[in-house]
Amino acid sequence: MCGIVGYIGNEQAQDILINGLSKLEYRGYDSAGLAVYDNDEINVRKKKGRIKNLVEVLDTQPLTGTLGIGHTRWATHGEPSDLNAHPHTSSDGDIAVVHNGIIENYLDLKEMLIKEGHRFISDTDTEVIAHLINKHYDGDLLKAVQAASKELGGSYSIGVISKKEPDKLIAIRKNSPLIVGLGENENYIASDIPAILNHTRDIYLLDNDETAVLEKDKVTVYDENGKEVGKQVFHVNWDPGDAEKGGYDHFMQKEIFEQPRAIADTLTGRILDDSIRLDDVVITKEDLENIDRIHIVACGTAYNAGLIGKSFIEKYAQVPIDIETASEYRYKDPIITDKTLLIVLSQSGETADTLAAIDIAKKAGARVLAITNVVGSSIAREADDILYTNAGPEIAVASTKAYITQVACMMFIALHLGRLKGLVSDEKLKEMTDALIDCSKQVQNALDQSEDIKNFAMDHFSKDDMFLIGRGLDYSTCIEGSLKIKEISYVHSESFSAGELKHGPIALIEDGTVVIVVATQEKTFDKLLSNIKEVKARGAHVMLIAQEKHKDIASEVDQAFFIPNINDDIAPIPAVVYLQLFAYFLAVARGCDVDKPRNLAKSVTVE
Ligand code: G6P
Repeated sequence: MCGIVGYIGNEQAQDILINGLSKLEYRGYDSAGLAVYDNDEINVRKKKGRIKNLVEVLDTQPLTGTLGIGHTRWATHGEPSDLNAHPHTSSDGDIAVVHNGIIENYLDLKEMLIKEGHRFISDTDTEVIAHLINKHYDGDLLKAVQAASKELGGSYSIGVISKKEPDKLIAIRKNSPLIVGLGENENYIASDIPAILNHTRDIYLLDNDETAVLEKDKVTVYDENGKEVGKQVFHVNWDPGDAEKGGYDHFMQKEIFEQPRAIADTLTGRILDDSIRLDDVVITKEDLENIDRIHIVACGTAYNAGLIGKSFIEKYAQVPIDIETASEYRYKDPIITDKTLLIVLSQSGETADTLAAIDIAKKAGARVLAITNVVGSSIAREADDILYTNAGPEIAVASTKAYITQVACMMFIALHLGRLKGLVSDEKLKEMTDALIDCSKQVQNALDQSEDIKNFAMDHFSKDDMFLIGRGLDYSTCIEGSLKIKEISYVHSESFSAGELKHGPIALIEDGTVVIVVATQEKTFDKLLSNIKEVKARGAHVMLIAQEKHKDIASEVDQAFFIPNINDDIAPIPAVVYLQLFAYFLAVARGCDVDKPRNLAKSVTVE
């Protein structure tokens, strides 16, 4: 994880770097720091904790200069502390680096460098990079960085400045995200697009093993053999306003409320009169005939969207599916052949485990289809077929709009594959795409009930445990709802398949236990009604999410929310919105840091 930024130009670097870091704080917030060149010196300020702590230091000890690098940290090697905060410098202070990733062979390198007289002051893996570049420095910073990188094992994106060559900023990328922002007489590096959106929307997407040399008025990119690479300018179509809170208290709240638009954007241009158009999904009927199994792999919330997608594809395209979290998949010797289609989901497109899963699958000959939100991300670039969620930037660590747009994309994939196999009729396609179009309204309806959701959260925010039950697609929705509750409110919550209640979990129900029941599926509605009665009889406080056609059972529960009637397969999209809002209000009531929950980061780019 971690976020890095860099600036070279004519403006004062400090505020540009701080502003960029504030957009990357979702990547980690254990410490933050800047190194800025001025008057033959590199000056460093760094502080444990959030960026605001660093800003307090800068208020009394500002940094002047027009060349600098910055970092916001998610600690891997060495506890969060001022000392372990980046940037790190060489012993003589000539070279400063910021790093995102892990240097796996840092202990060997450190031992060697100490023997050679280098003095280390932190416990980080990153510090070796500064010393190593210094060791190789012989009047040419680019050569020194390239030589050092040949000795570094692991994953990294690095920004480097040197007081000996203050006319350049060097960046290098290997398996950790890094982009170069192209301005006028100024250029930038950043781990992610929002960090530079206020300045430019023209970027270079660096590939692995590429090194960029940024000067004020030009950027030159080299491959691993030192050969200049002609990069194409990539124009980002995100609006800078999308990466701001825009009047909401939290990014998560804003992103929840953006969902009607996000889902509409996911659908835009893809639903035609009698077909769907998925531009970069180029799988043909013949390709599909050669596919005998599908693996779905993802992490966190994206995995939960994959669970729903598995049901969709099995139903509409009738292909057997295995689903795994990427961290399990990569170590369990999955059976992959050239007849396997791997579907990965990833909001960021940079999750390390998901990238590793792609690597394994590709080596075994599989085809890879990616659903991601970030155009040009590593996962998008590795995949054979891509479907973008088009949800716009998601900043809050807890994923919301990315999730519902991933679910919509999974429905697209299921229908597309089903059409290719001749299993989805014109009428069915129309019914499902109409339901998808309609679901923006259903999501809005859920948002309109936010006051009632808030009230239920206020009544129960001091509870230690909460349980969510459902069946089929509703069970998958519960899994996602439960993750939302625990990650942002720190309330212990668990989701159970309601049919399993009697096999153990019902023992947990006592007077006042909160049980959230998701019952949007007609074929299991009556079963869930029985489950409601069972937990009510044991004193549970029940919140129900169901379709309007079952409004008459409102009196059976403590709080009921009804979705205007909708196709059962699309119901998970509005249903989860009630759970997102409930988790949000719970977290606010408990005084939690909603957008930056403890110990978490949005983009897990290390293992
Ligand atoms: C982290 C985030 C989650 C996210 C997961 C997968 O755990 O906190 O919100 O779902 O990573 O991230 P991805 O970018 O691959 O969807």
